[in-house]
Amino acid sequence: ILAAVIAGLLGYLLGSVPFGLLLTRLTGAGDLRSIGSGNIGATNVLRTGRKGLAAATLLLDLAKGLAAVLIARAIWPGSEAYAAVGAVVGHCFPIWLRFRGGKGVATLAGVCFGLAWPIGLTYAVLWLGVLALARISSLGGMTAAVGAPVAALMFGYPDYVPALVVLAVLVVWMHRANIVRLRNGTEPRVGASKP
Ligand code: G3P
Repeated sequence: ILAAVIAGLLGYLLGSVPFGLLLTRLTGAGDLRSIGSGNIGATNVLRTGRKGLAAATLLLDLAKGLAAVLIARAIWPGSEAYAAVGAVVGHCFPIWLRFRGGKGVATLAGVCFGLAWPIGLTYAVLWLGVLALARISSLGGMTAAVGAPVAALMFGYPDYVPALVVLAVLVVWMHRANIVRLRNGTEPRVGASKP
């Protein structure tokens, strides 16, 4: 139980580093909070027009989720699901930003790859597949998040299902404003000239 708490805390600390906000501030690319959706994730960094920064945000937000799971597994085997939940919760509710963080899609991708590669691969295929077809970032992210626990079940990782169900619910909940826009037909498409 102590290992679970420490792994969760470690995950939270890693997950709460807001790379999108840090990168855009350090490079003077603009204030993420006042553009596009106001979110701190890679999709909104892309709306600053800085593709490289958006790619870096995506990779770093993914890497912190992956690192949390791998470090927890190395030090306290069996505690990685707690680190997984901690990392995505940390990204969504970082103490440093008065708990106003991102939506968890990239961090959950890293978490899934860390838990087991078939789960990560399923996540990536769903995420990128829906993104390629619909060109809507939020829809791709939510589809992948919901698919992750299903993949865990299908590929023989039942131990990870509860954590991934919790995280799927969290990621969908974080997208509630996007869901309203999707229903109204006003959710912006990636690559559209006007965000
Ligand atoms: O990962 C966040 C993405 O799913 C939606 O971002 O900025 O369009 O709300 P955004």
